[in-house]
Amino acid sequence: MEQRVVMVVGAGQMGAGIARVTAGAGYTVILHDVDDNIVGNGISRIEQSLSSQVQKEKISIDEKQKILSLIKGSTSIDDAGCAEMVIEAVFEEYDLKARIFSVLDEICPRETFFATNTSSIQITRLASTVKRSDRFIGIHFFNPPHIMRLVEIIPGLKTSRETIGKALLFVEKIKKESVMVKDVPGFLVNRINAALRLEAYNCLMEGVARLEDIDKALKLALGHPMGPFELADFVGLDVGLHVLQTLHNGYKDPKWRPSPLLEKLVWSGDLGCKTGKGWYDYTSGQKIPRKDVQF
Ligand SMILES: NC(=O)c1ccc[n+]([C@@H]2O[C@H](COP(=O)([O-])OP(=O)(O)OC[C@H]3O[C@@H](n4cnc5c(N)ncnc54)[C@H](O)[C@@H]3O)[C@@H](O)[C@H]2O)c1
Repeated sequence: MEQRVVMVVGAGQMGAGIARVTAGAGYTVILHDVDDNIVGNGISRIEQSLSSQVQKEKISIDEKQKILSLIKGSTSIDDAGCAEMVIEAVFEEYDLKARIFSVLDEICPRETFFATNTSSIQITRLASTVKRSDRFIGIHFFNPPHIMRLVEIIPGLKTSRETIGKALLFVEKIKKESVMVKDVPGFLVNRINAALRLEAYNCLMEGVARLEDIDKALKLALGHPMGPFELADFVGLDVGLHVLQTLHNGYKDPKWRPSPLLEKLVWSGDLGCKTGKGWYDYTSGQKIPRKDVQF
């Protein structure tokens, strides 16, 4: 049987997760990043997360080995030449993504189709960097990709029906659910989630409730698995601020103006779980609500 090959560009948090779910569906995955260390770290993270699933008896040791055997690390972008599809998951910087896609456009055969996992750059803008904008699409995963079941499919203005069909088929193969979303700033989930988070920040600033109580309320009343402040810390406050700036710039509507409280935390370097402090303080090993960010 013909072996189907997908290249994932970027072996960070999302790229490694996407490589894992893609290999889990039987594709050979080339996981590409700029140096051997980063690629090696990405593959180790996949290995650790598969081992934890083996421990929980969610997958067998054989399945773990099979998935790992399908993932090949690469530091040469030329390896994309044998892929039927390339999924890009590098830093959220337009110039970087544009440069990578124009290189890929030269390397890959015309039939190869390109997907981006961008959370905030519009697909039509990125598609304009390649000659195959008909074979370019947004496939937006959520973090962590092996747990979150949804993927947003975002066609650009020139994306062909065939490409949409291929993206839908791919998502079905990796056993995710998809929703088709128009190419607008923030797409769908981030836009709605940003509105909810902004309102939570407003309530905190107005002293409507304490931050831990806002989290508690949304978990217990609306069934959210994490409160808006907990989720913001998990995702990274810098990432959250970037989403709000994108919405604010994209819609030119003051309702998306980033919260001054959030800006202050990002300026101070408190970016959430990854720096030990965000809306909560994690430095003692416990999750303590910050007193200095509320009334
Ligand atoms: N983190 C999330 O919650 C999340 C969710 C959905 C989508 N996204 C999007 O996914 C993308 C990646 O985000 P992430 O959180 O995985 O970032 P990350 O910082 O964990 O990983 C980015 C990776 O890109 C690599 N990279 C940079 N330049 C490169 C180049 N020239 N060639 C190859 N690799 C290069 C970096 O070395 C790094 O490993 C972004 O577009 C982000 O907006 C992130």
